[in-house]
Order: sequence, then structure tokens, then C-alpha cells
Amino acid sequence: MSIEKQDLRAVLHKIEQERELVRVKRSVDPLIEIPAVVKALARLPKIPALLFESVKRYPGVRACGAFFGDRSRVLRSLDLPMEPIALNSYIVEALEKPLAPRLVTNAPCKENVRKSPVDLGKIIFPTKGASQSKHLYYHTVVFTKHPRTGRINMGMYRVTLQPRGKVTVNLRVTQHGGMHLQVAKEINVPLQVALCLGVHPSIYEAATSELPYGYDEVGLAGALVREPVEMVKAETVDMLVPAHAEVVVEGEIRPPYKLGNEGPWPEYLGYLGMNINPPLMDVTAITFRNNPVVPIFVPGAIPNVVSIGNEAQLLRTLRSFAGEFVVDAAFTHGARRHHAVVKVRKTHPHHEGYQLNVAMAAFGHGSSTALDQVTIVDEDIDIRNYREVDWAVSTRCNFSKQVHILPEARSHQNNPIAGVRELSEEPIITGKMIVDATIPWAYRVAEKSPGITFFTRSSWPEVDLGTYLQPEDKKRWLK
Ligand SMILES: Cc1cc2nc3c(=O)[nH]c(=O)nc-3n(C[C@H](O)[C@H](O)[C@H](O)COP(=O)(O)O)c2cc1C
Repeated sequence: MSIEKQDLRAVLHKIEQERELVRVKRSVDPLIEIPAVVKALARLPKIPALLFESVKRYPGVRACGAFFGDRSRVLRSLDLPMEPIALNSYIVEALEKPLAPRLVTNAPCKENVRKSPVDLGKIIFPTKGASQSKHLYYHTVVFTKHPRTGRINMGMYRVTLQPRGKVTVNLRVTQHGGMHLQVAKEINVPLQVALCLGVHPSIYEAATSELPYGYDEVGLAGALVREPVEMVKAETVDMLVPAHAEVVVEGEIRPPYKLGNEGPWPEYLGYLGMNINPPLMDVTAITFRNNPVVPIFVPGAIPNVVSIGNEAQLLRTLRSFAGEFVVDAAFTHGARRHHAVVKVRKTHPHHEGYQLNVAMAAFGHGSSTALDQVTIVDEDIDIRNYREVDWAVSTRCNFSKQVHILPEARSHQNNPIAGVRELSEEPIITGKMIVDATIPWAYRVAEKSPGITFFTRSSWPEVDLGTYLQPEDKKRWLK
């Protein structure tokens, strides 16, 4: 067992040696001061991770902020490939071969055990997230157990403190944890839940990746770091939890499945979320490590390199029926999981039209309802360079024929153009769009003069620029 593949603290120790962890010694308030300090990092050219050593009102508890604020740090800490294409291939392989967890009996997360009645808010600090928030939040990796099959789902959903020691868990009906709750309601049994704070980055990445219903997310966490996740039996629910978690909150969502109230919360697109009524959970136990380190997420404030499995899962879905016709897939930086760009390889006249089947399949990938827009491009386009994508859309897409507006379908409430409808109890739907920026086959082969099509790019011979410059100019301009 390698501690750096199991334990958040070990990862923090490693990044401190790499001088990417900054310790904040002065005492800070977790409610809005820590989120404000995290937001202030956005100005820096490179965002460090912060370890807040002294959290007001919570002696001995520490906070970690912005760990996921830098792509290179996150990938290095998981020992994953840096280049997006290599990373996607690696994760596709990991998705194909999840590693079953390893059961252990001795676990750091059991250093302190408190059974019901317990008040989470007195032990672990919550946060407000943004100035306008009216509730107290945690960002937890949520394990739920399917009441019929016993299968475990792992997703990241937010939790708020509620009166009488209860918490809300934001399990939406279109999220996989929410589907488990729907089944529990149908057969009128409690849903068993474990909420984990401060887990290894591989677990955060697997929990936030949008994977097929029933997929073994814990197995993906293990496969990402090539080592099974160590799990231990929970105290009061019949479930396994990560042995190295900093904090585990166990509980049940019980009949008659009462609802709490929370919101607004800062969402990842930079807008505030709505006031909502998620289900209430009874807390049955809390276990935690000595001097726990509790990560704080501030969505929309700084980059957040999570869900790294999303692009690979999209690629996997599309390749599962269209094979090598699909070259690569990515989400845009601005709209993120709401806009995918897919690269295809048209090499045969009968490929024409197939790009649209691929685009339609993209809307059904993983667990995502958030995908609203798919742009398809040819294989010469760098899909992670929005300038090139824009160029392809402007020069290869006849908008009246190659833009396809699909019927309204379920979207994600975080996209306000769909989310606004929740307010008037309308469905959270929006029109979906496919922009086909691939050169139509008939045009691709039409020649304006022998060997030159309308889409032939200008070309020049390769030269070695260095041989044309004086040494001092070479030094200044090349490199
Ligand atoms: C910081 C953070 C907070 C999140 N909070 C929620 C949430 O409260 N509710 C939710 O449905 N998804 C939330 N998500 C997104 C889910 O974790 C993601 O969609 C995941 O794939 C859900 O798991 P599932 O596919 O098993 O349902 C959050 C993601 C992050 C990174």
C-alpha cells in the first residue's frame, strides 16, 4: 500500500515538498472569510493550495482550500498523464478496468467515533460559500446504497446543516444518488448514506465524473492510481467507507422522507443556485481523524479541476458505437459540461451524416443532463483551442443546413436559461443544439483546380528559422 495513493494528508505533504502548499497561520472564519481568501487566489498566475491551520471556533480542525485550483498539481498528485489526449486514453483504460476496493479493519477515519445524538456543526465547521448564502454547507462525497441491489453509488453532492441535528443532502432525481432515493421511496425503506469529507483526490475525481448508472466509481478511483481504495465498515449503516477519509458522517434518509430548505449556493458557472428543498437525513454517527483536514470548495471562484473522467467517458460512449470514426472529445473552458466538441474522421462518402448520429449519442453520455450543445469538427482541428473551433464553425458550417436545433430536453438547473423555469415549477428543460462544422463530403472533394479543393489549406515548405538569424537574434526570438 502506498500512503500517497490513499490519504489526502500524504498528498498535501507531497505538494508541500513541491512548494505548492501555502500554510495560513492566522486564525480565519470558515463561513465567508475562507471562501473570500480562496477567491482572492484567482488573481495569481498560478494558484497554490492553502492549508488553514487555525479555524475560528473549531480548535484542532484544519481547512484546505484550492487544492483543485491547478491542473498540473492535480494530475501530478495522481501521477496521471499531463497531455489531454494521453490523459483521456489513460482514463478510458481505467474506466474499462475498475479495481475492487480492499477491506481493512484498522482505519484512520475511526480515530474518533461519536454515535447519535451528534451535532455535526459543533464538530466540523461548515461554510457559507458566497456572501448571499443563507445556509451552512459542506461538500461531501456521498455514498448511497441501492435499496434493492445493494450497489453503491458515489457522487459529490452538497449538504447543509438543519435544525435538530439533521442535514439536507442535495440528491436530485436525475442524479444517481437521487435515483437510489426514488427506489427507497417506492418500497418505503430508509436510504442508507455515508457522507465523506477529506478523501484522496482520486476519490473526488471519480465521484464528480459523470459515469453510467451502476458504474463502480470506487473501482475507478482505485484504477486511476493503480491501487485499490482501502475501505472499512461503517459504524451504523451497512456500508463501506474510505478508511483514510478525514471525516465520515453516517445516516439515513427515512420515511416519510421530509424535505429541508437551502440556497442560494455559488455554482460552478458563476451564478448563484436556487433556493431548493432537498431531502433530510438523520445523522446516526460521525467518525473523524485527529486534527481533521476539511477541504472547502468555492465553485465559480477559481478553476476547479474535477470531473476529469467526463471527457474520457464521453469518448468511451461515442467510440462504443462509432469506433475510430470518433477521434477525440472535449468540453469547452467556458461552458464546461454544457458544451462538448467532438472530433471525427470522415474518410468515406458513407461517413456523411454519421457525425450527426455521434452528436446525438453524446447527449446520452454518462449521467449528464447538462450537455446542451455539441459542436462536431474534422480531424485537423485542435478541439482544445477555441480559436480553431471558432474558425471551423465559421468556415465549414452552412448555418441554415448544418445547425440542428433539437427539441427541448432535461438540462441542468445550474444553466440559468433552463434553471429559471424551476421557479415557476416548469420542467428544467432547454433546446439542445448540434453545430456540424465538418466539411460536407460533396464539398470536401470538389476541386477548384486539379488537386486543390475549396478547403485545401495554404502550405509552405518547412525551414529552419535559426539558420536565417544572427546568434543574438536567435537567442532573443527563438525559444
Ligand atoms: C464542488 C462540487 C459540488 C457538487 N455539488 C453537487 C450537488 O450538490 N448536487 C448534484 O447533483 N451534483 C453536484 N455536483 C456534481 C456531481 O458531483 C456530479 O454530477 C457527479 O457525477 C454526480 O454523481 P452521479 O453521476 O453518481 O449522480 C457537484 C460537483 C462538485 C465538483
